[in-house]
Amino acid sequence: MKFFADTANLDAISEVNQLGILDGVTTNPSLMAKEGIKGEENIINHYAAICKMVSGDISAEVISTDFEGMMKEGRRLARIADNIVVKVPMIKDGVKALSALTAEGIRTNCTLIFSSGQALVAAKAGATYVSPFVGRIDDIAGNGMELIAQIVHIFSNFSIKTQVLAASVRHPLHIIQSAEMGADVVTCPPSVILQLINHPLTIYRYLLNAQS
Ligand code: E4P
Repeated sequence: MKFFADTANLDAISEVNQLGILDGVTTNPSLMAKEGIKGEENIINHYAAICKMVSGDISAEVISTDFEGMMKEGRRLARIADNIVVKVPMIKDGVKALSALTAEGIRTNCTLIFSSGQALVAAKAGATYVSPFVGRIDDIAGNGMELIAQIVHIFSNFSIKTQVLAASVRHPLHIIQSAEMGADVVTCPPSVILQLINHPLTIYRYLLNAQS
């Protein structure tokens, strides 16, 4: 299972990347705003910096909600680097844009997936990735992991190549459960990836060694 960092913070990306366990990055407009990145040129330059740092796929999200706007933005983002994947929302114009961008050879990540039907539609439109939002489903007392399992099962029934990218992942258990369900990718804040490293028994043993 691939690990993507769900952040636009260059230091945080670099910290996980230096461990040699980072396969890509996902961002969204809120994460860019959190880093204070505003304006088209600054946003493009920031994506370029991430693409230079990490060789895996970097999802860059369109802001437009109409087909023409998404196409214009998607083409512009795709020109930044070969490892850019254009992130498109699961709305009707988004599905049209997924099909058109795919026809132009541009790879895509369909975001805001909350049902297996939406995932199936995105896959049919040629999406490279679908991003079901696990944490946000849990937030409304649903079961995000059930959705991951359902999508993985459906895609496997038909040998669908679209990769299942578990998004809105909030804690280490979400990562482990995503792996158990067979998700291709998990994206989460770098701190959550780093949490996987720690175990109290490891630290205890390490402290004993240090004392002897
Ligand atoms: C990533 O592609 C998504 O935008 C992100 O995982 C959403 O996470 P959130 O639900 O914590 O905002």
